[in-house]
Amino acid sequence: MESSEAIRPEKIGPLVIKETWSTTGSLVSWQCQENVYICRGERGGIAFVFLSDDLFRMKGFRDQAPDLTTTEAVLAESCIPHLFPVKEAENQLIFTTGAIRLIIEKTTFLLRVEKLDGTIIMQQNLMSWNPRGAGHAEYDMQPDSHFYGLGEKASFLDKRGERYTNWNTDVFAPHLPEIEALYESIPLLIHMHGGLSYGLFLDNPGRSDFDMRSHGVAFTIGCSTMAYDVYFINGPDMKDVVKRYTSLTGRIALPPKWAIGYHQSRYSYMNQQEVLQLAQTFRDKKIPCDVIYLDIHYMDEYRVFTFDPVNFPEPDKMIAELGGLGVRIVPIVDPGVKKDPQFEVYKQGVLEKHFCRRLEGDIFFGEVWPGISAFPDFSDSRTAEWWGGLHKYYTDLGIQGIWNDMNEPAVFNESKTMDLDVMHSGNGRLLTHEEYHNLYGMMMSKATYEGLMEHMGGERPFVLTRAGYAGIQRYAAVWTGDNRSFWEHMAMAMPMVLNMGLSGLAFSGPDIGGFAHHTSAQLLVRWTQMGVFFPYCRNHSSIGTLRQEPWSFGEEVEGILREFIGLRYRWMPHLYNLFHEAEMSGLPVIRPLVLEYPRDPHVTNLCDQFLLGENVLIAPVYRPDTDHRCVYLPEGRWIDYWDGEIHEGSRHILAAAPLRIMPMYVKAGTFVVEGPLKQYALEDTEETLIFHLYGAEARSGFSAACTLYEDDGHSFSYKRGQYAEISVQAAGDEGTLRLSWSYAVREYVPRRESLRFTLCYPFFTAAMVEGLAEISLEQLKEGCSGWAYDGKRGAIIIQVADDPEGGELHIRAAEM
Ligand code: GLC
Repeated sequence: MESSEAIRPEKIGPLVIKETWSTTGSLVSWQCQENVYICRGERGGIAFVFLSDDLFRMKGFRDQAPDLTTTEAVLAESCIPHLFPVKEAENQLIFTTGAIRLIIEKTTFLLRVEKLDGTIIMQQNLMSWNPRGAGHAEYDMQPDSHFYGLGEKASFLDKRGERYTNWNTDVFAPHLPEIEALYESIPLLIHMHGGLSYGLFLDNPGRSDFDMRSHGVAFTIGCSTMAYDVYFINGPDMKDVVKRYTSLTGRIALPPKWAIGYHQSRYSYMNQQEVLQLAQTFRDKKIPCDVIYLDIHYMDEYRVFTFDPVNFPEPDKMIAELGGLGVRIVPIVDPGVKKDPQFEVYKQGVLEKHFCRRLEGDIFFGEVWPGISAFPDFSDSRTAEWWGGLHKYYTDLGIQGIWNDMNEPAVFNESKTMDLDVMHSGNGRLLTHEEYHNLYGMMMSKATYEGLMEHMGGERPFVLTRAGYAGIQRYAAVWTGDNRSFWEHMAMAMPMVLNMGLSGLAFSGPDIGGFAHHTSAQLLVRWTQMGVFFPYCRNHSSIGTLRQEPWSFGEEVEGILREFIGLRYRWMPHLYNLFHEAEMSGLPVIRPLVLEYPRDPHVTNLCDQFLLGENVLIAPVYRPDTDHRCVYLPEGRWIDYWDGEIHEGSRHILAAAPLRIMPMYVKAGTFVVEGPLKQYALEDTEETLIFHLYGAEARSGFSAACTLYEDDGHSFSYKRGQYAEISVQAAGDEGTLRLSWSYAVREYVPRRESLRFTLCYPFFTAAMVEGLAEISLEQLKEGCSGWAYDGKRGAIIIQVADDPEGGELHIRAAEM
């Protein structure tokens, strides 16, 4: 016998639940209200807000008045509406800024963005929505269209032919190209075609999808709840898009130097002796290391803000001892708070109403590591402050960095997350979890970052996060979650992190060596060689897998890893400079070649090699038993980092790559700045600097320049002007190279006596350096001023006093 349940609507199937989609219809009216252009169609409308010549927002609405509040992704100061001239023609409404024209076709509500010379940049053909609030728009796609961005996604660099969902998801396995959603959601798509790039950022923290696969001549962007709220970000170059997107959503805060050192992690280092022993081993083996992570086993039965009394009985002593070795710890903090009426954090959370609830008032409980747990509602600034304040527990112990995990939030249930009807109070702007989901992790890291700031006495905090949304870069570095010790995952880390960099996440990286499954000697070597050039550099592995600390595979492997980790530390001034650039401009630390060479057809989907900054090319080996690989060198002359061989660019070469070598090339005319080899980033040694200039020429037309930023590496005094900026210029003339340097700012005074300039593989031999004595390499090492020729490396080395006034030298070439 059947009950009425047999005819429940959802059982009847698509016939009943089929949704009708409506479009805006023709434009019927428009008006300007408080600098916002409200354009109404027959069945809905779009509000246009111009934020600059190159950035405007279009927010779809169906009600009488559009709601123009934004999410936390967007910086309020970047959202001031500007007025630009608007012209009404018979069939069109035309807005003109200093850079673009936005044309609305009145009959169809079709939108077109053009350059002022009429070149079409973007065309939005159709915008529609269903009665349940899902929104959807279709954009023109050209035969030469390529797509980038979208944050942390699997598959290759160019997203043409792919389809993705943005819904932060804890995917332990598998990270495969067909997986549409991972831990982070950055709904920014960069579209490059016809030599132009522009970006579309959909600011919607609910579920959204980007489909560059299914429609042949169009791509679509859709969201399932809330409003269709899209920002058009003009290029013309991809770099412009990245800069403008990060001016809208914010840029990374310059990390403390220790956070860009080498980090060692394991799920889990089980007790305090093991942690101390580990730190000591790094020091004994002279492998640089800044951080050891404490995974969930440091806690008392996985209660956040506790230490296990048996295995970590004296965290303060442990931390002090580690401090003596220059090692910091970063403990994991997950959002799930154990349901335990004797646990103070839980008690407070319940009594003070900090946990997420349903509308009816009951707390949402879900299972994670500690068992049944409650989850703070970080959308409420009162709760965020409470959570931030709890971190005093860690900062009082001297901890300066926190690792946020499971903050999608991950829950051990079928949906893998919180129920969709759980509410987020949003300081009065109540949203369901379905509408808010992708913001949860970011708001946790924001609360953490702000809490640390509050209690760290002016030191720069470090937060690492797994989940995030657009804007997360302001608060945390991002790692790419639970990859595996597969060669394929090593290879995939490149396009993934490169696209993250194009999506504002300049500080990110994968678990080096792979998290799950078992690494191997070769894989660890190859992954570390690559990983030391990634912005975030941590070796992490899962419980029950082969150990993968640098010494786990014998002396040969250990030696290679020491060399490469050491290289990261020697290149720290260079790397730190790139982080500074990322803070100032939003440009990523590592870059796909297409960012620097957008017009080179060979690089549109090139993602098994990348650039560190602009001009250092890194070509990792990502297959086993491989001692050669193909490398593409873009235009220019490239110098092999290892042996100085000069290659003409715009061609492919076959590079030799025995295990101890990862192919690397420096473009002729580039400065690479090297510092001392430290065992940890803030080790108090002399801040020697070597400016390596690759491929200098003593002929007119040659020039090279670099500006290096320095500060104390740990405090915020740089924000008050206490930093140094030294510029070095090289200019060629017939038979001479003029080298000059000066400090534009020297409010921070680095501890050093001299500066060194090394001309690596120059295209001439020096006969003399005017005003400087030729000295021996030995004398150079002792710190004497003068110049020397290093026959082994074909290098001309110059050492001078580090004079605040700067200086200038003329290097005369020998008669050929
Ligand atoms: C998650 C994290 C992983 C961590 C583990 C235990 O799987 O992604 O990095 O080690 O949880 O905390």
